[in-house]
Amino acid sequence: MKVAVIGAAGGIGQALALLLKNRLPAGSDLALYDIAPVTPGVAVDLSHIPTPVTIKGFSGEDPTPALEGADVVLISAGVARKPGMDRSDLFNVNAGIVRSLSEKIADVCPKALIGIITNPVNTTVAIAAEVLKAKGVYDKNRLFGITTLDIIRSETFVAELKGKDPSNVRVPVIGGHSGVTILPLLSQVEGVEFTEEEVAALTPRIQNAGTEVVEAKAGGGSATLSMGQAACRFGLALVRAAQGEKDVVECAYVEGDGKYARFFAQPVRLGKDGVEEILDHGPLSAFEQEALDSMLDTLRKDITLGEEFVK
Ligand code: NAD
Ligand code: LMR
Repeated sequence: MKVAVIGAAGGIGQALALLLKNRLPAGSDLALYDIAPVTPGVAVDLSHIPTPVTIKGFSGEDPTPALEGADVVLISAGVARKPGMDRSDLFNVNAGIVRSLSEKIADVCPKALIGIITNPVNTTVAIAAEVLKAKGVYDKNRLFGITTLDIIRSETFVAELKGKDPSNVRVPVIGGHSGVTILPLLSQVEGVEFTEEEVAALTPRIQNAGTEVVEAKAGGGSATLSMGQAACRFGLALVRAAQGEKDVVECAYVEGDGKYARFFAQPVRLGKDGVEEILDHGPLSAFEQEALDSMLDTLRKDITLGEEFVK
């Protein structure tokens, strides 16, 4: 497998590249690309780690050498939030970056599985889809908005609250990746009961966890290390499924049946060609149903913004 990390010199990109260098299956190739001139040096640095994964780094205007032959492309290129900003404030810069990278992917590796990290994810995934569609290569099963950070945060916070081992806690998170569109399904956490007060406090904590990091970093950016971990978990899930492992299930922001919105984060079973099956999110509590109903306007507007941008 060849995995390309785009935005690889950034905070997420470097953390993700380090984790992938250590955790990709033996024989994999890792390609790093970023406009920053340091990128080949990041690859040289990582190449000294003794794992059976080859690594090359590319910089400059053209991502083609990194994308050639890529099976999986993970994109974290773009600007990050500062305190006082909302994810949608990143649209002006990041929309154009995702558009031009998607054009390149369409030309160079149209069959790759694409994972988008760049914010605002609710919108950038729609941008990528429209670009790939215009190029005649869109396959909805191969395009993912990576929402795994919401999952790992939920697992951590639930484990802390309930005194559990976080590695044994599973929390599905549906919807999108910003504010009220992030909906953790706490009613479905196995072996744990929450009071109404706990749900009312934990849900917004998870929804605002990105802002918690942005404020703590005080102008130094947003989550990078936890996001590197989340993107590695999701990227490895794509790789394992593509290599034939069965029953690989993760939540991701994908184009499904359109029941709620064109793109929706939900549990999906992954296979050789990306999404193999969209899984039902299961029964919702009254609190979750109300939160779902009231997020849909926001989510649909975020998606339309991306579609209109490309048109
Ligand atoms: P960063 O500024 O540390 O790194 C971004 C990198 O992108 C930089 O190295 C920059 O040179 C590079 N870049 C810019 N334009 C590029 C282009 N056209 N081609 C290739 N590389 C390009 O930022 P970061 O902290 O790594 O965050 C990156 C993005 O990820 C932001 O948009 C942020 O909001 C988003 N993010 C998403 C999630 C999520 O859960 N999906 C979580 C955290 C951050
Ligand atoms: C996060 O959830 O940490 C990211 O989307 C970055 C941000 O801007 O909050």
